[in-house]
Amino acid sequence: MLDQLKEIEGRALEQLSRAASLEDLLALEQGFLGKKGELQLVLRGMGALSKEERPAVGAAANELKLRLEGALAERRSALQAAALARELADPGFDPTLPGPAPRMGLPSAGALHPMTLVVRELEDIFSSMGYTICDGPEVELEHYNFNALNIPQHHPARDTQDTFFVRHPRAGKAQPSGRVADGASDLVLRTHTSPVQVRAMERFGPPLRIVAPGRVFRCEQVDASHEHTFYQMEGLVVDREISVAHLIHAMKTLLREIFRRDVEVRLRPGYFPFVEPGFELDARCLFCGGSGCAVCKHSGWIELLPCGLVHPQVLRAGGIDPEQWSGFAFGLGLSRLVMLRYGIRDIRLMTGGDLRFLQQFR
Ligand code: DAH
Repeated sequence: MLDQLKEIEGRALEQLSRAASLEDLLALEQGFLGKKGELQLVLRGMGALSKEERPAVGAAANELKLRLEGALAERRSALQAAALARELADPGFDPTLPGPAPRMGLPSAGALHPMTLVVRELEDIFSSMGYTICDGPEVELEHYNFNALNIPQHHPARDTQDTFFVRHPRAGKAQPSGRVADGASDLVLRTHTSPVQVRAMERFGPPLRIVAPGRVFRCEQVDASHEHTFYQMEGLVVDREISVAHLIHAMKTLLREIFRRDVEVRLRPGYFPFVEPGFELDARCLFCGGSGCAVCKHSGWIELLPCGLVHPQVLRAGGIDPEQWSGFAFGLGLSRLVMLRYGIRDIRLMTGGDLRFLQQFR
């Protein structure tokens, strides 16, 4: 039997050295080492050997198996190296050419969404003015989204913000806010970023300066200028004796930074239950300078942001004494700002995920 093994080894090594392809190697591997290979056939005959002979034959067979496996691996890498060398030597092969473009021509590093670009720029501007950047939950307690902002359950101001109420297992039971709606749920997808005002007051106490960018939701009929999902940035300053003059100064500074020039502004009265007085701030049209164009609908002014002095009820809801402190707040419509900035005409592009749109912002 030992002779038989020797004979197999000789033949295997000789055939291996002549194998010209990986397929040849595979066939040899199966022929010699496979389940029905020659080595197995020999081992099957071991039952006929005497007890004394068996260990020696077993050991020899194992060693042979290892040697053949080694030889196979060696031959395999030699063949692979040869194949690569042939490919490189091919005059038609240019290793400096780029590989196939990943994901429809987008660079693999990706690109930033125009909203991200604008939010980052605004965060830089506000941090440089000493504001803290805050975050708030997108699924919000009705308390923060409405009640604490001086919009109680049956207030008509709720009608202006069509709301997605959230069904949840604890609906109707007491929430951390301690308040429960008489409706089915006291959780809503926040309709604006204003709830972060009260959360920030509770968390930091006065004096404070914050901005809170984020995603908001309304149950809207979607068209080119209405989306159910859009972005706002809330601003809030609470300090001693804050007046409308502070508000105007902060807004003018903000606009100068964003548009990199002085922007003329005007205030019109505007009603929001959480500010008193409340305003709509308009900017002299950035496109025509005020002479009238399609963007400003020939009025010379663009409605930019609602703002006002924080209502005493809201300060109280945030645990701040309105006799001691006052504040101003503003709500920047980020989706609108991004659209103005980049000349985007359809708001649906902002959340549509269309790569042809997204690729344009680098
Ligand atoms: N949260 C309001 C909305 O989405 C906008 C707003 C108005 C925010 C006045 C403010 C403000 O901070 O002072 O309709």
